Amino acid sequence: MTSFAEATMGPRGGTAPRLIDGFGRLHTDLRVSVTDRCNLRCTYCMPLDATFKPKSELLSFEEIERVVRIAVGLGIRSVRLTGGEPLVRKDLHILVRSLAAIEGIEDLSLTTNGLLLAAQAGDLARAGLSRLNVSLDSLRDEVFESIARTRGLSEVLEGLAVAKRTGFRSIRINAVSLRGLSELEIVPLAEFCRREGFHLRFIEFMPLDAERAWSDVRVLTGEEVRRILESRFGPLEPARPTDPGQPAVDYRYADGGPDGDGGLVGFIDPVSRPFCDRCDRLRLTADGQFRNCLFSTTEWDARAVLRSGGDDAEIARLLLECVAAKRAAHGIGSPEFERPARSMYQIGG
Ligand code: 5AD
Ligand code: SF4
Repeated sequence: MTSFAEATMGPRGGTAPRLIDGFGRLHTDLRVSVTDRCNLRCTYCMPLDATFKPKSELLSFEEIERVVRIAVGLGIRSVRLTGGEPLVRKDLHILVRSLAAIEGIEDLSLTTNGLLLAAQAGDLARAGLSRLNVSLDSLRDEVFESIARTRGLSEVLEGLAVAKRTGFRSIRINAVSLRGLSELEIVPLAEFCRREGFHLRFIEFMPLDAERAWSDVRVLTGEEVRRILESRFGPLEPARPTDPGQPAVDYRYADGGPDGDGGLVGFIDPVSRPFCDRCDRLRLTADGQFRNCLFSTTEWDARAVLRSGGDDAEIARLLLECVAAKRAAHGIGSPEFERPARSMYQIGG
C-alpha cells in the first residue's frame, strides 16, 4: 500500500509531487476560466437574466499566471482558456503571452463562441496561442438564435474565416446536440467542416444549464448523431486519438472525405458513455476556485490563499488536496447524482 505522498512523487522519487488522485488518474490538463461573462445566452448554459461576479472577485492576469505556473510545476502540460466567453475579457492576448512563456506547457488553447474572434485572432496567434475551439451549433440564423438567444452567426463565421487565414495549428468546432433541435443541423455542420478543414466534435447536453431544463430525453446521444452522419456520408471509421487522454472518440469519413482535420469527426459523450475513468482534467474558475470535475460540489479556494499572502507551496498543497478528493465518476443518471450549484458559464467549459 503506497501512501498518498509516495503515490504523488515525481518519476525519480524527487521532491515534485504529481497530480495523481485516489484512483490512479494523473492530471495534466488545466482548464482556466477567465470570466463568467458572455455575449451569448445559450439555453444549455446561461439564464437570460444572468448576474456576474464583480471584477474584484475575478483573478487578475498576474494571479492566473502564478497559479498556472505552480500547476505546471505539479505536472500540468496543457492549458485551455475558457469562460463564459474568454474574448470578452479585455486584452486576453496579454494573458496568453504570459502563459505561453511558461516552460513546461506543451499545449495552450482557447474555447470561444467566436463572436469577437475576427478582431482578436491575429493578436492571439502572435501571443502564442496554438489551438482554437469554436462553439457553433447551427449554420442557420434562426436556429443559432433560438439556442444562443442573441444574433451573431455571421460574426462567428467571419471569426472562423479570419482564424483560418491566421494559420492556427488546429481549429475545432464544438456543437452541443439537443434532441428536437439539432437533428437537421448535423449534416450541414459536417459539410461545412469538411469543406473548411475544421475538426468537428459533437458534445452531449450535460445537466449544467442554469435554467435546469436538462433531462435525459433532451440528450441527443453521440451514437444517434453518428447514425445521422452515416446516413449521409456512409460508414465512419475509428481514427487514432490525437491525444491519449482525450474524452472524444474520433472517426474518419470513409467516403474519401478530406485529408487532415476536415476529415475527422468526433463525439464527446459524457452522458451516454462517461469517460471519467481516463479523466486528466482540473479546473480553475474565474473567481479562483479549484474544481476536480465539472460536476464537483466542492471547490478549493485558491483566491483566498493568493490574497492572504499564501506562498506557492500552499497553493500547490491546495491543488493536491483538490485532486486527492476527486470522485471516481460524475454519476449522471444514478439516483445519488447531485447537480453542482454552479452552471457551465460559472465553471468554465
Ligand atoms: N452541455 C454540454 N456542453 C455545454 N457547453 C456549455 N454548456 C453545456 C452543456 N450544458 C459547451 C459549449 C462550449 C463548451 C465550452 O461547452 O457549447 O462548446
Ligand atoms: Fe456563452 Fe458559451 Fe455559455 Fe453559450 S455556452 S452562453 S457561448 S459561455
